[in-house]
Amino acid sequence: MRLQDKVAIVTGGARGIGEAIVRRFVLEGAKVTIADVLGDGSKLASELQEAGYPVIYVHTDVSQAAPIQNMVSETIKAFGKLDIVVNNAAINVPGNVEELDEDVWDKTMQVNVKSMFLMGKYTIPELRKNGGGSIINMASANSYIAEPRLSAYVTSKGAILMLTKQMALDYASENIRVNAICPGWVDTTFNDAHADLYGGRDKVLEDLSSLQVLGRAIKPSEIANLALFLASDESSAMIGTPVLMDGGICIH
Ligand SMILES: NC(=O)c1ccc[n+]([C@@H]2O[C@H](COP(=O)([O-])OP(=O)(O)OC[C@H]3O[C@@H](n4cnc5c(N)ncnc54)[C@H](O)[C@@H]3O)[C@@H](O)[C@H]2O)c1
Repeated sequence: MRLQDKVAIVTGGARGIGEAIVRRFVLEGAKVTIADVLGDGSKLASELQEAGYPVIYVHTDVSQAAPIQNMVSETIKAFGKLDIVVNNAAINVPGNVEELDEDVWDKTMQVNVKSMFLMGKYTIPELRKNGGGSIINMASANSYIAEPRLSAYVTSKGAILMLTKQMALDYASENIRVNAICPGWVDTTFNDAHADLYGGRDKVLEDLSSLQVLGRAIKPSEIANLALFLASDESSAMIGTPVLMDGGICIH
């Protein structure tokens, strides 16, 4: 029970890596708000509630201030406080700078980066009231390495690293730790359009060992293990650190 009595918000918690984090956190004793735009989040919350876990789903577009303010206030209403924020929601629409529509570029920056600014603005006052907390920003191996035709995505993931360090500097003295996770290739539907650039999902998984030294896709549950460590007091000396869990992609 490494998160006993802790309260967490997980954005993009309806599926994929976020879902794995939600499932891991509740097993460790946390009360969790799933903040997502997908109805799957509601189903996941119902399933976990029926199993006796304290979980709520709040429909939240994390690129907008008002839904975030509402979601934070629903979290406080349900659970009374806030300790952990996992900024995990993102989109990835492939395209080089000529191919990408301007509105896709703007949307990518809003969902992937501005969301972390807004989540900070509206969750830090609650973390402060509680004497501190842990913010975990989901970055990527693409925070370090560019890839063909992922112009908006890799730019957004690069920006997250600097925002993580900057926020860590501002809030360390208040016992609010800000760190980032940088996953390699995790086999979720998130990557479908990305995989199409390389001949589809099956081809990518077949060829993955040439890219990802691990030789297989990373499991969402493996990323959840790291999120748990960063959320818990076990990582109390980690401030502004981007942690690679990339199966060795960045060795090259
Ligand atoms: N899958 C990978 O290989 C991989 C690699 C590196 C980093 N990541 C990062 O991990 C995170 C999760 O990725 P995933 O693979 O689980 O993807 P996913 O598509 O399975 O999950 C993303 C979730 O974010 C939600 N979301 C999207 N836009 C939103 C919005 N405006 N407001 C609220 N929620 C929104 C989606 O509904 C979805 O539930 C992302 O930040 C992604 O960049 C993934």
